[in-house]
Amino acid sequence: MKILLLGSGGREHALAWKLAQSNLCSQLFIAPGNAGTLRHGINVALTLNDFEGIKKLCLDKDIDMLVIGPEEPLVKGLVDFLQSVDALKNMAIIGPSQQGAQLEGSKSFAKAFMLRHQVPTASYGEFDSGNYEQGIQYIKQHSLPIVLKADGLAAGKGVLICQSRDEAMMEFEEMIQKSKFGDASKKVVIESYLDGIELSVFALTDGKNYVILPEAKDYKRIGEGDKGLNTGGMGAVSPVPFADPDFLQKVEERVIRPTIAGLEKDGIPYLGFVFFGLIKVAQDPYCIEYNCRLGDPETEVVIPRLKNDLVELFIAATTNNLNNISIETDQRTACTVVAVSGGYPGDFEKGFEILGLENVENTDSLLFHAATIIKENKTVTNGGRVFCVSSFGDSIPTAALNSQNLLRKISFEKMYYRNDIGFEFQ
Ligand code: AMP
Ligand code: GLY
Repeated sequence: MKILLLGSGGREHALAWKLAQSNLCSQLFIAPGNAGTLRHGINVALTLNDFEGIKKLCLDKDIDMLVIGPEEPLVKGLVDFLQSVDALKNMAIIGPSQQGAQLEGSKSFAKAFMLRHQVPTASYGEFDSGNYEQGIQYIKQHSLPIVLKADGLAAGKGVLICQSRDEAMMEFEEMIQKSKFGDASKKVVIESYLDGIELSVFALTDGKNYVILPEAKDYKRIGEGDKGLNTGGMGAVSPVPFADPDFLQKVEERVIRPTIAGLEKDGIPYLGFVFFGLIKVAQDPYCIEYNCRLGDPETEVVIPRLKNDLVELFIAATTNNLNNISIETDQRTACTVVAVSGGYPGDFEKGFEILGLENVENTDSLLFHAATIIKENKTVTNGGRVFCVSSFGDSIPTAALNSQNLLRKISFEKMYYRNDIGFEFQ
């Protein structure tokens, strides 16, 4: 099978690594990929908004299966676009339709969906310039803290947790009247704050059947002790110690099953991953968000723990056979730690050579590249989140130590990583 994987992050390197291990994969292309995906297939320079270019690549290379990593092309309708091409009718696509991707593309859509299908979530109201004054009144009578969410995609920045009503009113005004997040904040969801601990659960579904992958917890803040600015993710662990079997059963019964059944009831075509962003409040799961893809860096611990052949899983999804699959998981724990450019998530420089990458060869760790490229035969930094190191261990701190041991042998100018990922689970 010829497979094309779209994306260029650590998630895509982990997926490329896994796909290339399958006997069912005869050739793997990654567009645009990074310096790490090169080891598992052929990188093709393409931007993900170039739908015509992607279509041409699928046709030229006679692609049998397309796997879409990030949300943006999904939310912009890549799947529907490719499905309308006659010559691509037989190509399997892992990634939902534009309508399905609304689960991530519109907070308002996702909240209404959760309400309609009785998925537990925070209570909310939604407002735009048409009912702006009602929004102000809603904030005035709301308990604290108040969560404001831009309706559309805002590169992970569109959620604000306000500690006072004044702050909430000011931010609400910025979002709606001053387009703080561009068109994404033309509409704003205002919701109650849920006080609990977060985790991520992933399902692969054909819109009717589903399988559940190992759960994970990511660390979003830049600073140790979960302080400082939000990032795309500084590390992840799997499994999650506070997600015991009873709790995970509640997640399946109260969140996953009604969500998949809801997609079917609503007639929304969906073939791909659903990412459930959950908060455990006391012993109960609440869904704070859906994403229409796998998480990053969660994938870098979830995929290494997955024993099944990933291409087989994808084929089962495209042939409505997921109900015949059982997921097999490595019982060891996994921890990934992300190395970022100094300054990230604010301004940072790129183009620094990464030294010591060869040290991974003598370890059991996996090094997944993210923002890396090859320039003049050197591997250099090309963005904020540069690479991550995933390791196994018989406990989370052991896995974390294994990742740190390798990270100490790799360097680039102003490299930064968190030293505390996973250590709260002693
Ligand atoms: P989201 O973009 O929906 O994932 O939100 C970003 C982050 O904001 C989440 O990972 C949570 O840490 C936090 N968050 C979102 N909604 C809530 C909520 N209702 N209560 C508490 N924290 C929230
Ligand atoms: N790690 C969170 C995300 O991928 O959105």
